[in-house]
Amino acid sequence: MNKINLPQAAKLTSPNPVSVVCTMKPDGSTNLATVSWWTYLSFNPNMIAYAMAKTSYSGEMVRNTKKVILTIPGAEIADAVMGCGSTTGRNMDKAEKFGIELAEIEGNSIKIPFHSRVAIQCSLKEYYEVGNHYLYICNVEQVYGNDAEEALFAWNGYSQLRPAK
Ligand SMILES: Cc1cc2nc3c(=O)[nH]c(=O)nc-3n(C[C@H](O)[C@H](O)[C@H](O)COP(=O)(O)O)c2cc1C
Repeated sequence: MNKINLPQAAKLTSPNPVSVVCTMKPDGSTNLATVSWWTYLSFNPNMIAYAMAKTSYSGEMVRNTKKVILTIPGAEIADAVMGCGSTTGRNMDKAEKFGIELAEIEGNSIKIPFHSRVAIQCSLKEYYEVGNHYLYICNVEQVYGNDAEEALFAWNGYSQLRPAK
């Protein structure tokens, strides 16, 4: 074994998961941000967790509204998902900028990318400071799936987004 740094370890563990975190902005529109680190936490009750940099606009939104939908994007929107991971929604509508078609979820004002394999609708339970990130612990309210969409994964660390097969 050789000594390596964590980003190098992330390359060795590729493919890594990719999600799009959907939150509501003050004007009612949806912000989309690419997040690789998330996990199932508990199946009774259903809970998930994800972590985002303290500076992220999405973090500010979920801490304010306590609502978030974590989605697994479909392969068709790979380039747009990379775009959502390299820009902030603070002064921009990412769905419009990257041409992401949005879909509504019943009874929810947060929209999701139409091309999603899974959508996990959550309420924020609590969050913890972890270095330069916050770890968000969420209660799952509803889960949606569409196996016709092929899930995206991050390859070569986080530099490429494509399916696992
Ligand atoms: C493939 C990929 C994976 C990413 N994973 C994470 C992550 O797990 N946590 C995080 O804080 N940012 C992650 N990012 C970066 C955020 O998406 C980026 O900081 C984005 O600008 C945040 O947008 P916002 O300010 O609108 O919330 C990732 C970016 C890419 C391209």
